[in-house]
Amino acid sequence: METTGCQSDPREPNRQPSGTVAAGARLAVCVRNLHKAYRNGNVVAPVLNGVELAVERGQCVYLAGPSGSGKTTLLSVLGCILSPDDGEVEIYGHEIAALDEAQRIEFRRRLIGFVFQRFHLIRGLSALQNVCVPLMIRGMSRRSAERRARELLEAVGLADQATVHPQNLSAGQCQRVAMARALVGDPELILADEPTASLDARNGQEVMELLRRLTTQEGRTAVVVTHDQRIFRFADRVYWLENGRIANAT
Ligand SMILES: Nc1ncnc2c1ncn2[C@@H]1O[C@H](COP(=O)(O)OP(=O)(O)O)[C@@H](O)[C@H]1O
Ligand SMILES: [Mg+2]
Repeated sequence: METTGCQSDPREPNRQPSGTVAAGARLAVCVRNLHKAYRNGNVVAPVLNGVELAVERGQCVYLAGPSGSGKTTLLSVLGCILSPDDGEVEIYGHEIAALDEAQRIEFRRRLIGFVFQRFHLIRGLSALQNVCVPLMIRGMSRRSAERRARELLEAVGLADQATVHPQNLSAGQCQRVAMARALVGDPELILADEPTASLDARNGQEVMELLRRLTTQEGRTAVVVTHDQRIFRFADRVYWLENGRIANAT
């Protein structure tokens, strides 16, 4: 029997814990013939129609395309937030359709840092407390979590805003808090949805330099949705999504 284009062999179920990188996994992301539609009653709106994408570990790739082309949908599937309707999606050698709900949550918590397009910060918490959340969920002590969270706020240039709540921060500052929160748990895979959309040129460049360092120096992998031409030079590759497929790569 032929194996598929992704890495896992269907004859050899992956028995490694779902929150780890599978041994020998060369690709961080492998997507084959991915289909995804939204359903509302009897209305079916297809969004992804046969996406093919392979991202090597340590790469920083961008996903560009017109508004409504499915960039956020694709990123959400990679982040195990949405389930594929059809096709294969492997993240670090794990076929995500094979994970049950609890395993998917564990997988996301251990391996993935997601920067949401609309930030999704918690209003009742300060910037520092927002960044601490992923660490507290993992059971880290408040003291250690705060120390680590401060490092991340510093890295995104917000050390002096630690005690401020999101409703009193600018959109650009919220965007950087969201980035700090996504990175605080040292995720292997960073998925960022338009992370520079609210940033000026200097802050946008700094955030992308930070992501770039994490990929080139630490071997992490980043998939960044953007149409911000100012930052294209930070990418190893830029993939264009059009009509539900990857149209081309540059
Ligand atoms: N939860 C949803 N329910 C129904 N339709 C959706 C939903 N989310 C997105 N869509 C639709 O799917 C298409 C792709 O959306 P999206 O992935 O957000 O595109 P992009 O991020 O490229 O702008 C759009 O037409 C959008 O209106
Ligand atoms: Mg979007």
